[in-house]
Amino acid sequence: MNTENAPQIRRTSLNCDSKMKKKILFVTDQPKALRGLRKVLAPLRSQWQMDFAQTDSDALTILADSSYDAVATDMQPVETQGYRLLDRVGKLYPSVVRIFLTGRFDSGRVLESLGAAHFFLSKPFEAEKFKLTLERAFFMRSLLADRSLIELISRIDTLPSVPSLYHEVVFEAQLPNGSLAKVADIISKDVSMSAKLLQVVNSALFGFPGQVSSILRAVSLLGIENIKALILSLKIFTCCHPKNIPGYSLSGLWGHSLAVAMAARTMVTQQGLPQSSIDEAFMAGMLHDVGKIVLINKLPGECLKISELVGASGCKLYVAENEILGADHAQLGAYLMTIWGLSQATVEAIAYHHCPGKSSNRSFGPLTAVHLADALEHSATGQGADKGLDVEYLKNIGIYESD
Ligand SMILES: [Fe+2]
Ligand SMILES: [Fe+2]
Repeated sequence: MNTENAPQIRRTSLNCDSKMKKKILFVTDQPKALRGLRKVLAPLRSQWQMDFAQTDSDALTILADSSYDAVATDMQPVETQGYRLLDRVGKLYPSVVRIFLTGRFDSGRVLESLGAAHFFLSKPFEAEKFKLTLERAFFMRSLLADRSLIELISRIDTLPSVPSLYHEVVFEAQLPNGSLAKVADIISKDVSMSAKLLQVVNSALFGFPGQVSSILRAVSLLGIENIKALILSLKIFTCCHPKNIPGYSLSGLWGHSLAVAMAARTMVTQQGLPQSSIDEAFMAGMLHDVGKIVLINKLPGECLKISELVGASGCKLYVAENEILGADHAQLGAYLMTIWGLSQATVEAIAYHHCPGKSSNRSFGPLTAVHLADALEHSATGQGADKGLDVEYLKNIGIYESD
């Protein structure tokens, strides 16, 4: 790309073959940051076309000229105010994925930016970390290809934001000198969360011998990843006011989610999958129905209609949701969890937990385990006589045999 005749717009394409490639526009006015980005991202040239702009107005000119899949901006320069650019991009090009590149973890600014950005990435930038973030971002974009989901989201005034306690734990856990003791200290400052965590850890489902009486002990027994899953789910459950609508009863939903998480974790462990998949199965199990909590909180009237349709027709809840809302709690939950930064495997397990055959995944993983655990748990509690198993999918991955 010739930049000599376009001094106002510095565009540096790292690869000319743009066919079938995702296009990403980086915006930074810091030459050092630009050099660093180009170096870090060089290994990804075969997968993505990456262009660079130096100012907000240059970026907007480029975006008006050509369509992009994602925009990533550096939020450091005060005059640039990257979040304002992303806010503008969000309004002009809502389907473009918006990413903040931030020099350091700053929960205040991150929270401020959440409305404008879908994702944020903190330094040091690594190609692999960036790749994972973009894969998650594009997965979210594929979810949003469903116009009905966009319409459903637009009917919900504000989606729940990421709990700051979760952010703090994630940040501490990824520090080179991070420790379980420091994580436990952070959690202990939240008295209400500490009490709830201890209550959960001491429940019969976990089966730990003796009483677990300290958060440090709970963190040591469960591990950081499971603690993160419990923090996210406890926070979202406690922000909701219980409403007794059949199918959306929160009192049963917590027990159901925990049972699915435990069963899914066991299945993935028995398959000999890596620890990361075991953790993802637990996280996805805990949060697979999180979309229901959003719906009951934000659209209780519609939830009542959905419940009545289920009662009258005998159809499954997610089928009735699709009938009345055009999208279901699985899609909504997956969208929210993508924004909250969960891994692609976790989000995929949430998105397709009723119909795994719609995913492109054809090997046993967190999605398979959550689908099986959810269907079996519903069956065990008498909430689905046909178990709701996606038999074709299970046959395809070789774990279902006909009688
Ligand atoms: Fe569900
Ligand atoms: Fe479920």
